[in-house]
Amino acid sequence: MNSETLVSKTVRDIPPSGIRKYFDLLDASYISLGVGEPDFPTPEGIRKEALKRLSTGRIAYTSNAGMPELRELILRYLDERFGLSGYAMNEVLVTVGSSQAIDLAFRAILNPGDEVIVTAPTYVAYTPSIALAGGKPVFIKTTHANRFKISPEALVECITPKTKALLLAYPNNPTGGIMELADLEAVAQVLKGTDILVVTDEVYSELTYNGKQHVSFGAIEGMRERTIVLNGFSKAFSMTGWRLGYAAGPAPLIAAMTKVHQLTMLSAPTTAQVAGIVALERGFKYDWADVIAMKQEYERRRRYLVDSFNALGLLCNEPEGAFYVFPSIEKTGLSSEQFCDKLMQEKKVVAIPGTAFGKEGEGYIRCCYATDLEKLKLAVARIEEFLQML
Ligand SMILES: Cc1ncc(COP(=O)(O)O)c(C=O)c1O
Repeated sequence: MNSETLVSKTVRDIPPSGIRKYFDLLDASYISLGVGEPDFPTPEGIRKEALKRLSTGRIAYTSNAGMPELRELILRYLDERFGLSGYAMNEVLVTVGSSQAIDLAFRAILNPGDEVIVTAPTYVAYTPSIALAGGKPVFIKTTHANRFKISPEALVECITPKTKALLLAYPNNPTGGIMELADLEAVAQVLKGTDILVVTDEVYSELTYNGKQHVSFGAIEGMRERTIVLNGFSKAFSMTGWRLGYAAGPAPLIAAMTKVHQLTMLSAPTTAQVAGIVALERGFKYDWADVIAMKQEYERRRRYLVDSFNALGLLCNEPEGAFYVFPSIEKTGLSSEQFCDKLMQEKKVVAIPGTAFGKEGEGYIRCCYATDLEKLKLAVARIEEFLQML
């Protein structure tokens, strides 16, 4: 029996991740700008208090939708931080990272052949999640010239009778682009009068720079009814390994997601939910000091990296969100993959080719600055040597 041939066609057709090879076999001599994960430990105050609470509790299943105490705090957080007001308790679902929320959203809304408009270059999980739910991605190209935003004109061109949803993903991975109020209002204007849903992945919502505040699409006038907001604790609170996220949206859509969640996952980890309660309680009590301290450090590193790349002639526009820069390597004459392979071999610096995020990423590399400034300086010095070598 050839077990390989028994794998479903849908899964077989999903291309292997273009990121993995840049993580295998790395030792301490490499500097990685590859992994999109905060380098800070989960803040001590969260860890200590969560462990204390967990040491006395029975760690059992929770309600399928998540602990009521946590859901209440999430609703208060969304309201106070992003103006997402008026959600009821049955309009929020606690998930296993925002990753599970992405999967659930598509499984809950898509019929076979439904189209989802997705920005390209795009975060690696979106296209497979859409495909696994029977949908079809339709790519809307975003470019350096428009700061990787969605223009209303480009959006109109992507809409067909089969369009079920638009996936918004700002602050953006891999480009670092953000969408501001006016940009989102222009998108809303296109969607008004249609039945197109919006799934908005806002997992980087706490990481915006240059004094810009994140604007949630769900808070745009008239858009709440068609919007599922996804978010999580991984990036804002440096809690990637806890695996905690959530979705908020209209009750019927959240009920559909909860139905799938309760049959396939039962509930998000109770350990993580307790830690999530602590993270939000501390946030309200100390005015988000943990979150802001990490963000300030990212801001410093971002400034350094953007200025350095531009000085090296690897042009990048100002990424105002997440923790990625996405400079153009076109002037080197190499493809993104050649550039990253050679850089890794010759100088032991790991960056991710833009093409790992779709063919629209050709000509760019993604560098993550969730790495301390000393290492970033070393990486830039090695990249400079590399460019001289070419
Ligand atoms: C855009 C985006 N969405 C979602 C996720 C998944 O995050 P989580 O840890 O909440 O599952 C990531 C992780 O890198 C991401 O970059």
